[in-house]
Amino acid sequence: MTTVIAEPVVVSHDVTADQVRVLVGDCSPETLRRRFFLPAALEAGEVFRRYRRFLLIGPPSGASVLATVGSRPVGLLNLVAVGDRLVEVGLLVADPWQRRGIATHLLASELARPRWAGWTVRATVQADNQAARRLLFDPLRGRPRRSTAGGAELTVEVVVPEARR
Ligand SMILES: CC(C)(COP(=O)(O)OP(=O)(O)OC[C@H]1O[C@@H](n2cnc3c(N)ncnc32)[C@H](O)[C@@H]1OP(=O)(O)O)[C@@H](O)C(=O)NCCC(=O)NCCS
Repeated sequence: MTTVIAEPVVVSHDVTADQVRVLVGDCSPETLRRRFFLPAALEAGEVFRRYRRFLLIGPPSGASVLATVGSRPVGLLNLVAVGDRLVEVGLLVADPWQRRGIATHLLASELARPRWAGWTVRATVQADNQAARRLLFDPLRGRPRRSTAGGAELTVEVVVPEARR
């Protein structure tokens, strides 16, 4: 069951390297391993250094959207353009803030923007990642989608609806 947060969750495209470093530092080795498909645990500072380019991606190559509660960074959505109107999703929510609807909120608010209308959004997750599977399959129910399973990975593709006129 998802727990509701009493304080407001604010989402913003103004994302700084310091905020992302704090967020990564608040994540457990397992959460970081899930996010980046790491074969073994990696120290948070090293994760930030290694994946900084993706964690801070911005236009025209994609978007980064940060969720904060108060001044605390709690979640990050990265959308990385990988083809013609095709974007890859990466989501990271700090452990103390998981299962409170933050990833759902980040995805819903960002994909509602006109920028992504008609784009295909692709997510690849580890097949045994129950949190990501539930997050990506349930909220997207009812929209056109394709999913493929290849070994230990699962890929879901969703076409963001064109805006209604
Ligand atoms: C996957 C992840 C982003 C979900 O973030 P979150 O903010 O906890 O997700 P939400 O609270 O919006 O929950 C979305 C759904 O997933 C479910 N869920 C979340 N964590 C879960 C868990 N550990 N086990 C089972 N279901 C889970 C929620 O219950 C919710 O479903 P519901 O509304 O039917 O209850 C977070 O767990 C995370 O950062 N994991 C590590 C990185 C990762 O796996 N990223 C995805 C691949 S890029």
